[in-house]
Amino acid sequence: MGNQPVAVSSRLAQVRYDIRGPLNRRAYELEAAGRSILRLNIGNPGAFGFQVPPHLREAVAAALPRSEAYCHQQGLPEAREAVAALHRRQGADADAARVFVGNGVSELIDLSLRALLEPGDEVLVPAPDYPLWSAATRLNGGVPVHYDCPPERAHLPDPDALAALVTPRTRALVVINPNNPTGAVYPRELLDALVSLAARHGLVLLADEIYDRVLYDDAAFTPLAPRAGEVPCLSYGGLSKVHLACGYRVGWLSLTGAAGRLDDLRHALDLLASLRLCSNVTAQWAVRPALEGPDAIAALTGPGGRLHAARAAVVDAVARSEFLTLVPPQGALYAFPGVDPARLPAFDDAAFALELLEQEQVLLLPGSSFNIAANNHFRVTLLPEAAVLADAFARIERTLARQADAGAARRVA
Ligand SMILES: Cc1ncc(COP(=O)(O)O)c(C=O)c1O
Repeated sequence: MGNQPVAVSSRLAQVRYDIRGPLNRRAYELEAAGRSILRLNIGNPGAFGFQVPPHLREAVAAALPRSEAYCHQQGLPEAREAVAALHRRQGADADAARVFVGNGVSELIDLSLRALLEPGDEVLVPAPDYPLWSAATRLNGGVPVHYDCPPERAHLPDPDALAALVTPRTRALVVINPNNPTGAVYPRELLDALVSLAARHGLVLLADEIYDRVLYDDAAFTPLAPRAGEVPCLSYGGLSKVHLACGYRVGWLSLTGAAGRLDDLRHALDLLASLRLCSNVTAQWAVRPALEGPDAIAALTGPGGRLHAARAAVVDAVARSEFLTLVPPQGALYAFPGVDPARLPAFDDAAFALELLEQEQVLLLPGSSFNIAANNHFRVTLLPEAAVLADAFARIERTLARQADAGAARRVA
């Protein structure tokens, strides 16, 4: 009896987060054995030499003496006011009283689903998804129902197909725009169709807009809350990506929609926020300077910028590849190439990712880590320098060519 392993909650049985999963653990083992691994698996700007803009660092440093007490469970009033003002500038009916600051969007995703879901409630989640959405839905007793965003549709959903997934148990619709992992940026008409679907079926919109200003070429971001109007909408943003401050762990959510419908949800969120007292106070001082000060990201995504060059390096590498296809990302920090089944019929994304790691020291993520049924995609982050990505794609091409040769040899035998 006394020697039994410590049992863990069965709620975790279906919960996965492969971004830091088994491949990542294998990469650590290889590094411990002295190998140098090119990590393309995590969108962590600080790990690729990007620095937090000086005006954010200075604001945090100057505010250290004012950061020693707990603050309000919803966050510092000054930070919440800055978030509400941003959303009002975008045209939403936002109010600092309905803004919550958290330790990253990650914490707020969990908190919101905990506030919303009864056991068995369904949440419509894009496929591919940012897998925290599926994981947090399951952890909170819900069922993620994935709607397809395939490359044939430029990774955008078909609103009619999405409507067909709605059941009496459906509670919420997750929209990740700009999208991780595909880089899709949702057009206004599509967002309007999703809003009317939510209105028809009484769904809550969950708009993950953490990449709102990470845009390439002529892509334009349309925030969901102003389109949603009276429909309840939770809009998420943060310092991690646009403001290059992942380690600060600051995210926010703004609750908009018909006032009378939001009171219970606001109280539930407030209660859950109170249970963790408040989020990190020190870093919250960076919110107002981030939202009101100079833009850190436009110079990186525009012509001549590092992210612009990185994206071009990936698009070029795919254009030259014998095996790969790609819907060029319009936003966010990732590319999601596909492997042409006509060239590699037996391709398996998980086996490929492991072989690439072991043989070529490149760590990327198989597409199936993002809750899609197809197994012929992978995700890379665009954060390395263009030359590093070009080298990574040379190693990817070498691995695919080896697999093609092995497949041809098997067929001959
Ligand atoms: C789509 C999306 N949402 C949320 C997050 C979580 O961000 P954070 O917890 O750093 O605010 C990420 C992180 O990669 C993301 O890609």
